[in-house]
Order: sequence, then structure tokens, then C-alpha cells
Amino acid sequence: MLRRQAFARFNCIITPKAITRSKYSTVSGSDVARTKVPFKNITIFGSGMMGSGIAQVSAANEYHVNLVDLNKGALDRSQQYILSSLKRIARKKTTDERMQTNYIDEVLSRINFTTESEHAVASSDMVIEAVVENIEIKQNLFKSLDPMASPQTLFVSNTSSLKIKDIFRDVSEKRKERIGGLHFFNPVPQMKLLEVIKTDTTKQEVFDTLFNYGVSVGKVCVVCKDMPGFIVNRLLVPYMLEAVKMLERGDASAKDIDIAMKYGAGYPMGPFELLDYVGLDTTYFVAKGWYEDSEIQKMELVKPPSVLKKLVEAGNLGIKSGKGFYEHRK
Ligand code: 3HC
Repeated sequence: MLRRQAFARFNCIITPKAITRSKYSTVSGSDVARTKVPFKNITIFGSGMMGSGIAQVSAANEYHVNLVDLNKGALDRSQQYILSSLKRIARKKTTDERMQTNYIDEVLSRINFTTESEHAVASSDMVIEAVVENIEIKQNLFKSLDPMASPQTLFVSNTSSLKIKDIFRDVSEKRKERIGGLHFFNPVPQMKLLEVIKTDTTKQEVFDTLFNYGVSVGKVCVVCKDMPGFIVNRLLVPYMLEAVKMLERGDASAKDIDIAMKYGAGYPMGPFELLDYVGLDTTYFVAKGWYEDSEIQKMELVKPPSVLKKLVEAGNLGIKSGKGFYEHRK
């Protein structure tokens, strides 16, 4: 058991001998050329929970990060979020308060919180977007960044539900060789998984670099085709929607469904706790997008339940608004 846990922890560097010993191997990307990531400068657009988390894990692993958002208020909130996460990690690393402070200061010193996108992008080797899940916003962002960035710069999306190819519709043909998907999970510093996505125009060496970047920030990387929701959300979103539909029918209460999935299926959170945690709006807009205009259109499985729609329209978005399926103390 201990040995399996140890293998899972270092999955990306385990030897072929170790692979055969591990019954439930977590190794993916066997065809990826394992090389050192040839750069250090990253720009991330969007300083919400995902963007902040990606900035944090990158900076904690020696990358220099520009974290870009539209206004200073959003950047200040991001800084607070990263600080509180780093405090948790620092306390686990050492009980020495001076060393904790040094660690936090060192990581934060590698993050430049900025509203100046042009300057940030011009000096970056990789640009990752973690902005709102709206295809036009993402398309326009990359279209405008394309002429500002070096021809070598990688363009990456952290989309939860859209096809990577569609997001990069309006960038140059040359840039299309240097695009890909890196899908992180919330809370990014704690969740080990990273889905790495290659489109039909992505060069193999670019994909290898994205995968190796994932390994370098301590993630367990899996490879997935460029399809809506990739692996996790394609399974997780219908599961959460099905839970809401059970609630709508009155089959069981939200609390009992949560208890059942935690204690009967071993999930760390029940579906309603997770909906509140991720944000009801996020799941609602993913489902709505899939049901109305993606290639999985009109599947009952992804039809947004009316309870979810009503809560979102009333501004009850979960933890971030103080109320979702549950009440949350601010
Ligand atoms: N930064 C650093 N560490 C954090 C953290 C953060 N923001 N949040 C939690 N942690 C760490 C804690 O320090 C603690 O570490 P330890 O076990 O070493 O002491 C550990 O996580 C557990 O935290 P807590 O004890 O505070 O609380 P829980 O045990 O309830 O765990 C949780 C919290 C990690 C969020 C856990 O409930 C969980 O894994 N939930 C499921 C989350 C999930 O499914 N995420 C995916 C959502 S889908 C998604 O993101 C896709 C996107 O496209 C929307």
C-alpha cells in the first residue's frame, strides 16, 4: 500500500520496472519526450481561483509569472488567495516561522500582479488563459495577443468545457502549431491532476513541452483528445447534474445525496458541496453550452436542471456568493 502511494506521488518519473510492479499505474504519456522545459517566463490571464492557483504552482516551481487581470481589485483578491494557500503549504513544510515567511516571500516574489498585458506577453514563453468560460472572449483575447507575442510563444487554454481548436480559431496558422490545453483542477495547489491536450495542429514538440511543464509543477499528467470537457468534466458534470435532477424529483435531500456519495463512494465532497465549491454558474454555463451548441448538443445527460438555472439567475453561486445549495459564512 505504502509503495503504491509512493509510486503515485512520483508517477511521472518512475522507472519501467516500477511501472510493472504498480497494479494501478498512474503513468500516462509514454510517447512524450521527457526533457527539461526550455523556459521560465509565463503569463497567465485571469486571476480567479484557477488563474491564481496556476500562478502559484508555477512560481513555487521556479517559473516567473505575470498574472494579468483587468483591474487591481481582482489582483488584490488573487494575492490574498495565494497568500492564504501558501501559508497552509508553508506550515506543512516547516514549523520555523522565519522559514515559512522566507518560502512565502520567495514564491510571491516570482509573481508579478499586473494589468499591463502587452508588456507581460511580449516577454513570455507561454501564455495561459484562465478567463471566464466564454468562447468569444477567449477567441478575442488570443487574436489580440498573437501579434504581441514572440513567434515562439506557446498559447494555452485552461478551458473546462470548450474545444481547444475552437478557442484558437483566429490566431495565425504558424501559431496554431504552438497551441494546446492544460486543464487544472480546483484547488490547483492541492489537486494533483493535469489534463494535457493536443489539437490536430499542435506540433509534437510543443505537446511534449506542455506535458513536461505539467510534470515540472508536480502534477500527474493525463493525455486527452481535444473534446468538450476532456476526461474529468465530461464525467463529472453529468454526475453533478444528475444529482440536481434527483433533488428536483424529491428522491433525496442535497445533504443525504452528499453524505451518500462521500460515505458510499468515497468522494471527498458530495455533488452539492462540489457544485457550491466550484461555483454553480461554472457548472450551469458548461451544461448550457454543451446542451445548446456543442457537439454533445441535446443530450438529456447535459440538460441544465431548472433548479440550477433558478439559483444562478438569483445570484446564488455557491461559496463565492455566500449561498448556493447550502448557506456559507462569508
Ligand atoms: N491551497 C493549498 N492547500 C490546500 C488548499 C489550497 N487552496 N485547499 C486545501 N488544501 C489542502 C489542505 O492544506 C489539506 O492538506 P493536508 O491534507 O496535507 O493537511 C488538504 O488540502 C485538505 O484540506 P482541508 O483539510 O482544509 O479540507 P478537506 O479535507 O475538506 O479538503 C478539498 C478540501 C481538497 C477541496 C477536498 O474536499 C477535495 O478534494 N474536494 C474535491 C475537489 C474537486 O473535486 N475538485 C475538482 C473540481 S472540478 C474542476 O476543478 C474542474 C474545473 O474545470 C471547474
